[in-house]
Amino acid sequence: MYAASPTPRTLTSPSPHSVGGPKRPLGDLAAACTQRLPGTTADGLVVPTAHGPRDYANLDHAASTPALTVVAEAVERTLRTYASVHRGNGFASRVTSQWYEQAREQVARFIGAREDDLVVFTRTTTDSWNLLARALPLDTTVVVFASEHHSTLLPWGSRSSGATVTLPVPRTVEDGLAWLDSALATTHSAHTLVVVAGASNVTGEVWPVERIVEVARRHGARVALDAAQLVPHRAVDLAASEVDYVAFSGHKLYAPYGAGVLAGRADWLDAADPYLVGGGATARVDQCGVTWATGAARHEGGSPNVVGAVALAAACAVIQERREDLARFEHTLAERLRRGLEAIPGVHTHSLFGPGSDRVGVVAFTIDGLDSSLVSTALSVEHGIGVRDGKFCAHPLVDALLADGDEGTPTTAVRASLGLASRPEHVERLVSAVAGLAAYGPTLSYARGPQGWEPDHDPRVVDLPRPW
Ligand SMILES: Cc1ncc(COP(=O)(O)O)c(C=O)c1O
Repeated sequence: MYAASPTPRTLTSPSPHSVGGPKRPLGDLAAACTQRLPGTTADGLVVPTAHGPRDYANLDHAASTPALTVVAEAVERTLRTYASVHRGNGFASRVTSQWYEQAREQVARFIGAREDDLVVFTRTTTDSWNLLARALPLDTTVVVFASEHHSTLLPWGSRSSGATVTLPVPRTVEDGLAWLDSALATTHSAHTLVVVAGASNVTGEVWPVERIVEVARRHGARVALDAAQLVPHRAVDLAASEVDYVAFSGHKLYAPYGAGVLAGRADWLDAADPYLVGGGATARVDQCGVTWATGAARHEGGSPNVVGAVALAAACAVIQERREDLARFEHTLAERLRRGLEAIPGVHTHSLFGPGSDRVGVVAFTIDGLDSSLVSTALSVEHGIGVRDGKFCAHPLVDALLADGDEGTPTTAVRASLGLASRPEHVERLVSAVAGLAAYGPTLSYARGPQGWEPDHDPRVVDLPRPW
């Protein structure tokens, strides 16, 4: 039970409405928003709170993003002629098949794919890595840091052969590179794959991909880049960076229609058994056996998710075109968010490589003496703010980050993550609300129930009519 306290939790806390040190006027920040950035389908969403309806402060983009409006429109247009992909000669099938392949080309441009790279449509990043894990040559050693998201950490261990070397969570870039170097120096497999995230889903820190490729190349290893948290914020160029494989998810890139991507070198993918055995993956089937297709089709068994592919392509096209505006907007908001949180007594932001590290708009923080799940619930119930709490499917990383503190440090954190549905006012609201929580605790009383923390009277009753 957490009962609201009328007295401040600390005597030194500032007023919740004046935190963050010297603050740029909100007007400046708002100006960053007026660059006519692409809108999302969730813009203007109003949610119930204990203090009445409020504009939804979406600070949870690292989990899933809403669709861009242009993406939803592209999907709507796709549905008007929707028909089978590569399975019919009717006009609608021909149009749909063509759009599916054009979507593949658009995605290839988005990631700077080489001429002979394959772009395979999957469901998610998790799906992409499971596909690649099954496609690796039998004796491949995979080297991965323990700091990765579980989807990027775990699939390699489920292989029937080949070793997996898991490096500890590094606390400096130099340590990470040195450990990688010595792990690769002692690996004697015919094939080696280094797997690394471009940006952490917990701290937002950007990993030095070029330097990792350099180390890997020195030892003849390939590199697979988890770009799930990178592509929404930064460009990826396979050809220029010499990264061998990349994976990402449409639902984190404003295209939540069930498609993801695995792209990269064709040789291992073409030599591997099909990921899903069935129609579409075959070139020929007769009494004597099966000849599997080569190319992306080999791993896209079953009727393709053309709606997801078109949505992803539409998002890629817009993001690629507006990359600079988007980066400027997110940088402005991220600076304010980070500085605002760091200035609050009792609030700690967490990072692997230290305060000066390059990051995307993702911040993990804890508040002294408050359970992270209670914090995220109070932010939702009392302020209409959406964030995530927990270990973010990156348990070893969060354990390493939080083990640094004194006795009694929390075991979970709160994560705020920015994107196109975030507004300067949302960031101000979060900073102000966190300052209030750090100083006074929640204003309502909460008890832990089967669903986590709940206020005595939860205003967030979901009574919307079903969408179908
Ligand atoms: C860095 C990173 N990699 C992989 C994943 C897995 O993505 P998905 O759930 O779309 O498979 C996530 C999801 O949060 C992530 O943040």
